[in-house]
Amino acid sequence: MNKQSQDMRYLTFALGKGRLASQALELLEQIGITCEEMKDKDSRKLIFVNEDLKLRFFLAKGPDVPTYVEYGAADIGVVGSDTILEENRRVYEVLDLGFGKCRMCVCGPVSAKKLLQHHEMIRVATKYPKIAKDYFYNQKHQTVDIIKLNGSVELGPIVGLSDVIVDIVETGSTLKENGLEVLEEICPLSARMIVNQVSMKMEAERIREILQALKSTKQR
Ligand code: PRP
Repeated sequence: MNKQSQDMRYLTFALGKGRLASQALELLEQIGITCEEMKDKDSRKLIFVNEDLKLRFFLAKGPDVPTYVEYGAADIGVVGSDTILEENRRVYEVLDLGFGKCRMCVCGPVSAKKLLQHHEMIRVATKYPKIAKDYFYNQKHQTVDIIKLNGSVELGPIVGLSDVIVDIVETGSTLKENGLEVLEEICPLSARMIVNQVSMKMEAERIREILQALKSTKQR
């Protein structure tokens, strides 16, 4: 990336905290976008600046990334496609970054398989009520009771809160260690880049340059 002029406005990136953030930073580094101060794990700082490139970066909770991007508080976001589907914000989804690959699945004990096959009225625990609702109501035409949880969703069927869960499966080890299985697959997921709709026009050239660089990195 080339050094930018002094009077240029900052282009702001919102990165989803956690698993995706470090991979997102690695990918940006490959195209010459670096932010050294962000690598300091002990720092409590929330926003980081690269003065040469006129870029700013901040880490946010995954589900908040599309919100920052829709309102223009960030021009660009990096977040999982699960969050994009669940939040349904007005943003442009511009690139599949090719990492963070996993699947959205209906999971549970093997005994729950017949409840799904017979379209029984079942309870579904999930962090993703919109995705679950869309899958059961619009795709499967099965009426279910959706219970929103905020994490450790696998507990649902174990403690008798729900019959099944709708959740992300990456390696499958969380399911295995808790005696659960993938019963149905909803969709594949991966990390995506999203862009604010106004920024896409106003900062078209800079954003296009970043996208081109990322695309050619993927092809290498
Ligand atoms: C996610 C997901 C599963 C687990 C899947 O949870 O909700 O629990 O990872 O990964 P695996 O297939 O590789 O075992 P996360 O770690 O994000 O925490 P959470 O339970 O708080 O949602």
